[in-house]
This record gives sequence, structure tokens and C-alpha cells, in this order.
Amino acid sequence: MSNQNISTSILIINFRNQRTYIKKMKSLKLRNTTWRSVFIFVLGLTSLSIYVYLQYERSTLSSHYYTNVNQQFCRIPNLNPWDPSISAYIKQTESGCPNVPPLMSVDDQGFLQFNDTSARHFGIKATDLLCTYAIVQRNGDNDVIFEEVKRIVFPVFVPGRVFRVQCKNKIDIVVYDFVHINVDYLEPLSDKMVTPEDNQTYSIFFVGIDSASRSHVLRNLPLTYAYLRDELHMYDFKGFMKVGINTFPNLCPLLTGKSESEFPFYLILMKLDSMPLLWKEKEFERYVTLYAEDRPEIALFNFHKRGFVDPPTSYYFRPVSLAMTKFTPVIVSPLPAVNSECYGNLHQYDIVLDFYRRFLEKFRSKLRFAFFWNNQLSHESYTSLWNGDLPLLQLFKSMKERGHLNNAIMIVYSDHGYRLGGLSTTYVGRLENNLPFLSVYIPESLKKRFSWIPTNLNQNAERLVTVYDIHKTISDISKNKFENLTDGNVYSQRTARNLLLPVPKERTCVDAGVPDEFCTCQTSIQINPSHFKMTLLGKHVVDFINKLLHKFSKYCQLLQLSKVTDARVIYKRKEQDLLDKFNVFIFGAEGDDTGRYTLTVETVPGLGLFEAVIVYDEIMESSDKMKNSISLIGNPSRINRYGNQSHCIDDKFLKQYCYCNSG
Ligand SMILES: *[C@@H]1O[C@H](CO)[C@@H](O)[C@H](O)[C@H]1NC(C)=O
Ligand SMILES: *[C@@H]1O[C@H](CO)[C@@H](O)[C@H](O)[C@H]1NC(C)=O
Ligand SMILES: *[C@@H]1O[C@H](CO)[C@@H](O)[C@H](O)[C@H]1NC(C)=O
Ligand SMILES: *[C@@H]1O[C@H](CO)[C@@H](O)[C@H](O)[C@H]1NC(C)=O
Repeated sequence: MSNQNISTSILIINFRNQRTYIKKMKSLKLRNTTWRSVFIFVLGLTSLSIYVYLQYERSTLSSHYYTNVNQQFCRIPNLNPWDPSISAYIKQTESGCPNVPPLMSVDDQGFLQFNDTSARHFGIKATDLLCTYAIVQRNGDNDVIFEEVKRIVFPVFVPGRVFRVQCKNKIDIVVYDFVHINVDYLEPLSDKMVTPEDNQTYSIFFVGIDSASRSHVLRNLPLTYAYLRDELHMYDFKGFMKVGINTFPNLCPLLTGKSESEFPFYLILMKLDSMPLLWKEKEFERYVTLYAEDRPEIALFNFHKRGFVDPPTSYYFRPVSLAMTKFTPVIVSPLPAVNSECYGNLHQYDIVLDFYRRFLEKFRSKLRFAFFWNNQLSHESYTSLWNGDLPLLQLFKSMKERGHLNNAIMIVYSDHGYRLGGLSTTYVGRLENNLPFLSVYIPESLKKRFSWIPTNLNQNAERLVTVYDIHKTISDISKNKFENLTDGNVYSQRTARNLLLPVPKERTCVDAGVPDEFCTCQTSIQINPSHFKMTLLGKHVVDFINKLLHKFSKYCQLLQLSKVTDARVIYKRKEQDLLDKFNVFIFGAEGDDTGRYTLTVETVPGLGLFEAVIVYDEIMESSDKMKNSISLIGNPSRINRYGNQSHCIDDKFLKQYCYCNSG
């Protein structure tokens, strides 16, 4: 209130100044009185407009005074993937697997074929070998068993989805030992009707890549990106924002429409069979389903989770990836054991992509729900994603050319950007982290049915959207709900929105379901990180972390602030108000420091880097005294790798903070 009065009086003074100025002008005896009147008129009009404008700005902004900054509508950052500040991190490393030709492979009819070309290369003959297969059976979600061993005469149709092939030569030496897949084997589906697609019911394809921000995709998957944009005419969402720190909190809402925290205990304590996953909804009963994910040790439903009793989908890749860990592959001579990149002579991503492609082919023109998630390409390193460009391009090309996309919706997406170390220690990298890739494919037949769909999607591609919206969109499409669902209001609680309908321009992080600490809607200004006030805030962050570690104080060392490495102000209370800004500009009045900051702090021992969002405020301590209040929004996030610094504790959340006593 008092602020308003002061500002108004300042403007009056200002008008007075103008009058004096005008008097001076008079004394100059301007000859042309018409010109003088025009001058006065224009000056008066300008002053009035500025005043009215500032009052207007004040009235629109003042409602945000002291309120949550995330209730302002979202300004999507326009990131340059080649921003000079991150050039040091834009590198590409080659990933290579042993260059050994395949001795056998499964053909498109499901027959295991012996490759005579390769055999000649190795100088061996099929007739000199004794080969057997053993079908792999799932044994719970973390183990597989091998059935009895059977003799092979090539070519052979093995009646199992996954099997191990072993060959010995005449002197009983193992010259071949490998896991193979036969997607054509139908058994578990035999009594299930698989319904054909048509132009009113759509197959649903998800292609997900871990840790790939939109910028990262633009930098590293240029061929794939261009193909999605130019050939598949997909919609490239620039305001797709993450809603949780890592993979599970982002994919959980995508698959269930709910946040991880809405599933209190059972997620951790129980098997996940009862989790209401999207493809388990009634509408998908007619679909043949697939879930394919690599890297079994960090898989979505198994990393710190207990997996499923029954396979969650009719085609489930996990037994394949588990079987690959059971023995060392041999192609004539032993190959390295399976690692995060390769299985024998093959890239892990090629194996999963092949599984996916063969599945699509097997059930061509049938209703399919296929969920692909790749951990390998980008999870470990921010320089490796480009290795996926050609394989992904080939997948999408074959999907189009083979007609799989005629009656299908496809979502190509990621969970978040690169999170730990390297790029993510820069400001631009941290923004990228919050803005994963999302691209949506809509078949021509659907665009024809509802001509408003392309218009809305083009518009929504520039707006704030999240995984909650993807869930809602796919769920609505599966129920054939297309019309009269429009709701243009912005709410003060999470609201899932169908991406085919208009998403409000005024959408806020609250409405979108983005927690405060990941809300990347406001521009920020860099400030001097060594300013004593930033040190004060930095100490507060470290105290906060030490409190979190309290229950492990026996194991983890007390952290200390080494330095604040980066500080940014998202808004200052004073700077937010244009009228005040104007006053500061005119009178040089001192602004205060209250507002919202993002800080990167380095701690010792261990040189951990943490990012935190802090609200620095003044609150009334008593009727005449103000007190500083510092509070953190969410928890600080570790942004560099902690390796085995926290080997002494097993707490998934606290591991990022702990530096073990024993070093
Ligand atoms: C057989 O192996 C050769 C390389 O030795 C390879 O070029 C060819 O594609 C393989 N054939 C099949 C059917 O996998
Ligand atoms: C959908 O399919 C039906 C029958 O196959 C055809 O008559 C109709 O034109 C198709 N609609 C669109 C939008 O392609
Ligand atoms: C949608 O609403 C319009 C008018 O508001 C109406 O004419 C149309 O029949 C409705 N469509 C459906 C599918 O309910
Ligand atoms: C883990 O810690 C031990 C010491 O406890 C050290 O020797 C080893 O190199 C560390 N490994 C990694 C991967 O950092």
C-alpha cells in the first residue's frame, strides 16, 4: 500500500519536472506556437501513457507479490543447442563392439540359419559341429532358467521366444555360445485374439531414450531428427518439461497418470503387477503388447523396485537381457562378457531395436501397444548418444516404409536431460536437463478425421506440456474421445491435458504438474557467486544437506561449503515491479535482495556439486521488525557424479549427499 503511494507521488514530482522543463522551453520563446502546443500535447500524452502502462503492469504483477512464482505463466526458454558456454562439452565418443561376423541368425520366418559365408571366414563347417539349443524360461523378474538341451539340424524353428545355442567342434571345444530371439514364436498368445487396426483405432508406439534433452537430440541425432520432422511430419515440443529428478518419477506419470508419491508404499515393498499401467487399461485388451528395455541392472521396474510376478506384456524383453548375463558369449573364440554397451559382437541397442522391429512386423496391421525404452545410448555419458542416430533413423524409416505408421500414434521422447557431471554443471546444461525431447506422430487418417488436430498440435508444440499430458492423450485416444473435451482454464492444481486440444498459453507449472524445483519458466539473471549474501545462502544449502544426512551421521562426514560456483536470481521482489524499477532508475533507490535464487554449491570433502532453489524473503518478526527468511524449494540435486563416495549407505535418495567416513 505505502509503496503505491510513494510511487504515485514520484510521478507527480516527475510531472512537475516536466512543467519546469516546459517553462524553460517557453523562455526560449519558441517562435511557432503550433509546434509548442504539439510538443506539450505529445509530452503530456507520453507521460500519461507511461503512467497508465505502469499502473497496468503493477495491477497485473502485484497479484504475484509474495505468491508462488510458478503461478505465473510459462515462458519457455529458447535454448541454443550450440550455445558457446557449453562448447567444451559438445563431443562425441565412438562406441564399438568386437568386429566379429555373425555365425548364425534368426531369419524373418523365425528359423535359425547357419551362416555359411561367416563359416568360410572362420574356416569351419556346419557338419563338423554339434549344436544344441536350450529354451530360456523366465524365473521371476530377476532370473531365467535354461530348459533341457536339444540337438539342432539347421535350419531350425525353435519353439521358444528366447533360447541359447551352443556348438562344440569335434574335439569338444565350445566354438559357439549365444542368446537368440524368435519373435515369431506365438505360444503365450495362442488363445488371445489380436484385433486388426483400422482408421478409427490406432496402434500406440513409444520410443524412449534415457537422458536426452531436446538440445541433446538436435546435436546428436541430426538424421533422425530431420526424418521425424520432414518425413513423418511429427510435432516437436519445445516446452516439454520434466516432472521429477530421474527416470522413474518421470515415466511413472507417463504410464499411470499419477506421480510416484501418489503410490505410497507398495512401489517399493511389493511387486508391481497391480500398478495401473496405461496398457493394462480395458481398451488395450484388444492389443498385443510389448515392453522392451535394455540394461536389466538399471531397468525401470527393477532398479530399487521389485519388478513383476507375471510378465507385464505379451512380449517382454527382460528375459532376453537376463539370459545374456548368464554365460560368456562365444563366436569361435570367447568374447567379452556382456557390458553396458555390447553383447558379444552386437550393440545392445541393436538387439532391442531388432526385437522391436520384428515385433512390429510380426503383428503388422494388428493393434499393437509397443513400449521401447533405451538406457544404454545416453545414460552413462553425454558424448555417446550420436551412436544411435543411424540405428534409430533405420527403425523409423522401416516403420514408415512397411506401413506400420498408417494407423498408429507414435511418441518419441525422453525423461530428462543429462543429469550428472560435464554438461550438467553449466547453466545451459541445467536448463537442458529440465527440457527433455518430445516428438509426436499423428497418422494422416486421424488428421483427416479432425482437421483441428494439426492446428492445435502446432500451437501446443510451443507450450508447457508434461508426461501427465501424454498419458491423458493416449488414454483419450484409446477411448476414442476426441471432441468436446476443451478446457482452457488454468488451475491451481495439476491438470492433465489432451495434447490434441488447445493447451492454454497461460499454463503454469502448477497446472502442468511440474514441481517448483524443476519449473523452468522464468528467465534468470546471473549474479556474482562470491557475494557475501550468496555465501550466506550457500551455507544454508549445506546446512540443509547435513540435516538430511542426520540419520547417517555415523557413516557420512559433515559437509562444508567450499564455494558457491554459480548464482542466479529468478526474480527479485523489487525488480519484478516495473514501477519500482522505474523509481530505482530515476532515483537510484536501493532494491532489496529478497526473491528467488538458484545456486550451485561445491562442498568438501568430496567436491560434490549441488543445485538448489532458494527463496530469500523478509518476514515480520514482530510488529516493527523484519527478519530474513531463507527456505529451500524441494531438495538440492547432485549435479556431478558421486561414484562410490557413498558406498557406506544404501539409501537411494541420500546417496547423492553422503561422503563416507572411510573415504
Ligand atoms: C552372414 O555373414 C555375413 C558376414 O560374414 C554377413 O554379411 C551376412 O549379412 C550374414 N547373413 C545373414 C543372413 O545374417
Ligand atoms: C476409413 O476407412 C473406411 C473403410 O475402410 C473408408 O471408407 C474411409 O474413407 C476411411 N477414412 C479415412 C479418414 O481415411
Ligand atoms: C460437440 O459440441 C458441439 C457444439 O458444442 C455439438 O454440435 C457436437 O455434437 C458435440 N460433439 C459430440 C461428439 O458430442
Ligand atoms: C571405490 O573406493 C575404493 C576405496 O574405498 C577405491 O579404491 C576405488 O578406486 C573406488 N572405485 C571407484 C570406481 O571410484
